[in-house]
Amino acid sequence: MYVLETRTLTTAKLELPSAQIQRPGLPPVLQVYSPKILPLRKLQTRFKGRIRKLHQRKSSPFHLRIRYDLVVTSDARFLPKEFKDIPRLQIRAGPAFGTGEHATTRLCLRYVVQFMRKRGNHLKSSSVLDLGCGTGVLALAAARMGAKVEGWDHDSVAVQEANRNLRLNRLGTRVCFHVRDVLRGSVPPANLIVANLYDHLLLHLLPRLESHRRAGTTLILSGILKGQENGIIRTAHKLGWPLTRRGRLGRWFCLQFTSQP
Ligand SMILES: C[S@@+](CC[C@H](N)C(=O)[O-])C[C@H]1O[C@@H](n2cnc3c(N)ncnc32)[C@H](O)[C@@H]1O
Repeated sequence: MYVLETRTLTTAKLELPSAQIQRPGLPPVLQVYSPKILPLRKLQTRFKGRIRKLHQRKSSPFHLRIRYDLVVTSDARFLPKEFKDIPRLQIRAGPAFGTGEHATTRLCLRYVVQFMRKRGNHLKSSSVLDLGCGTGVLALAAARMGAKVEGWDHDSVAVQEANRNLRLNRLGTRVCFHVRDVLRGSVPPANLIVANLYDHLLLHLLPRLESHRRAGTTLILSGILKGQENGIIRTAHKLGWPLTRRGRLGRWFCLQFTSQP
């Protein structure tokens, strides 16, 4: 796998998976990923930047257990015996973000599972919105626990991948995925909104959630690097969202806000 890193933050459709990365104290950069170098060389002539080879470790099956509520696995055939009786989610290691291995996904999974467990008798009537769904891992985790879920991603490759994972897990009508930009159009009501995005997107998203604040929605936000968390907490606080939980894995934060209707 190769990555082109450029400071040109283009809005053009690239037909390749990409991510905008904001490192504290540095200008944002766009990363575009491809298994072949040639498509990136073509983009490099337009957008400049640097191409490097990503050193991937040999893929071995990945399993993540969240208490005894859920196991996320990349290959159920290799699931350890002691995990066999736990409700399971299989996520293909494909071109979209969100296999469960990244710290932000792990933090969000923990928070989503805990939120769902606390819903108790209301599980089946719970609605969840996953903004920036990638592989659909968070949406599918909530659906596996009983919620009705919608997942959005502006990257059509990610939505294709999420639909593949939906079929793989046979979660049928409980989930639907759409190609949508989280900053365009209205955001439908939900009991829980989970958004593992980037801090600048979260700062633009928060003011768009006023009706959700009034309705008592819970927000789980991640994709927040150390040093960015206070900016999000301050903005959320000004908009009437009290912080109810804060977690950190390495340099990544996950924040939960629960509004009082
Ligand atoms: C960090 S990944 C999170 C994936 C998955 N939800 C997880 O937790 O592992 C962020 C996702 O947000 C998507 N994204 C970025 N900007 C977006 C936007 N403006 N609207 C919709 N999706 C966006 C990216 O394509 C990417 O799939």
